This record gives sequence, structure tokens and C-alpha cells, in this order.
Amino acid sequence: MRLRVNDIVFNYGNTNILNEVCLDAFPGEILGILGPNGSGKTTLLKCINRILSPKQGTIALDGADVERMSRIDMAKRIGFVPQNSVNENCTPTVYEVVLMGRRPYVSLDYREADREMAWKAMEEMDIKHISSQRFDRISSGQAQRVLIARAIAQDVEMLLLDEPTSNLDVKYQIDVMRAIDQQVRAKNIGACAVVHDLDLAMRFCDKVVLLHEGRVLDAGKSKDVLNPDNIRVAYGVESVVDNVYGRDRIMIM
Ligand SMILES: Nc1ncnc2c1ncn2[C@@H]1O[C@H](COP(=O)(O)OP(=O)(O)O)[C@@H](O)[C@H]1O
Ligand SMILES: [Mg+2]
Repeated sequence: MRLRVNDIVFNYGNTNILNEVCLDAFPGEILGILGPNGSGKTTLLKCINRILSPKQGTIALDGADVERMSRIDMAKRIGFVPQNSVNENCTPTVYEVVLMGRRPYVSLDYREADREMAWKAMEEMDIKHISSQRFDRISSGQAQRVLIARAIAQDVEMLLLDEPTSNLDVKYQIDVMRAIDQQVRAKNIGACAVVHDLDLAMRFCDKVVLLHEGRVLDAGKSKDVLNPDNIRVAYGVESVVDNVYGRDRIMIM
């Protein structure tokens, strides 16, 4: 499924947050959404997922405007992995959280097939061994994997991930990006992921959209966009891009 965001404008009250933002995301690719804190990345994902309504512009899935889709149809096509989502008032187990991914498909109660899909998603994210633990009592790295498993169980064509690697140690960061990468390639689905680490973006994102003050500063192949000029404008830091062991690495000076 192709996701097209065209000329989105979004304001919180009188404050403009997103201005004429465009992006295209394709099956089989990870699109990185990058930009400094407050540049509008989370707001953009929420607009795509219709948690927020843009003031102007359109969002289309394979050419069909999402405004004309039901919430349930959207949930069968787009899975959202939010940044922080431990709900203090609810204490489900890991398995129950993953099973919630099947909600868009059930009318009364989960079927055996739904439970099987939840188990398969947990297997793919390597969390079966913690299935009966309370979601609010696992580590943030594990919680991140649980939320991705929920989106996998949802059987969607596009994953939206808000900072899936934040708060994770280096091993978990790579593991989570690899898991996303594997899902995208194996199932030929698309992913839009907010990534802060420029090296992780360079390594795992096929393309990136670089936001700066609510506008797209540049978009395209990761190695074209993540250059010292763009990094200086977006983040206000000097950098050097070097090739280490055959991989482009960004060193912030
Ligand atoms: N609920 C809100 N009400 C008003 N302003 C908000 C709200 N949420 C976010 N903002 C503002 O919108 C801007 C973009 O926020 P956000 O999309 O969360 O940025 P990012 O995810 O890139 O860090 C920030 O300046 C932030 O303060
Ligand atoms: Mg954010």
C-alpha cells in the first residue's frame, strides 16, 4: 500500500505546527521521519493516523482519501506504535496487549485464529516468554517490542512507529530496527518510523523525510538527505559523514 501525504497544514490553536508537509511511503521500504525535538514528527504521525485532523491537505492510501474511510477500515490497514503508551489505569498482560491488535477484526469475542495471530506476532518479536507478565511491569525495551507485536497482530499494510528505539540500550535498538526491517521485507508492508539516531536512520531507513520547524527541509534517499549541510540547518550541529567498514557513519563534531 502506498501512503501519500499531500500539503498537510496543522495548527494547535493559533500556533502553526506543520506547514505544507508532503511525503510518500511505499511497500517494502522503511521511511525515516527525522527532525529536532518539537519539529512536528509526532504531530505528523497523528495526522496520518487520524488522531488529529489537519486543517488543510490530504492523506491517501493507494489513492483513497482516509477522510472517507471508517476507523475500522483504517485500523485494518495502518498500525500505530505510539511513543509512550503505558496506561496507568489498566494492567493487562503482554498477551492481552498483543491480542488487542485483533480488535478491528472481531465483532463479539476473539476467535481461535485471532489468538493464533497474537501468538505468532509474539514469536516474531521474541516476547513469548513474557506473555503472562503485566505490561506495566516489563522493561521499556520489552514494552516497545510488545507494542510492535500488537501492530503486527493487527495485520496492517503500513506501520507508523513513534521513536521505536528511544530509551533502548544499543543492542535493543538494533534488535528493534532489525525486527521492523524484517517485517517490512518479509511481508512487503511499509513503515514510517520516527528515528532520532542519525546512524540508525542511515543504516535502516531506505528513505528519510527531514523536518525542520514544521516543514520538510529535505526528503529522499537516506544517504543523500543526511548530509552535513542538512544536519547543520536542522539540528544546528556540525558533522562529518565517513565510511567505516563499508557503512556510512555520521559523526557529530
Ligand atoms: N497538545 C498540544 N497542544 C499544543 N501544542 C502542542 C501539543 N502537542 C505538541 N505541541 C507542540 O507542537 C510542536 C510539535 O510537537 P511534536 O509533533 O510532538 O514534535 P516532535 O515529535 O517532532 O518532537 C511542539 O512545539 C509542541 O510543543
Ligand atoms: Mg515526538
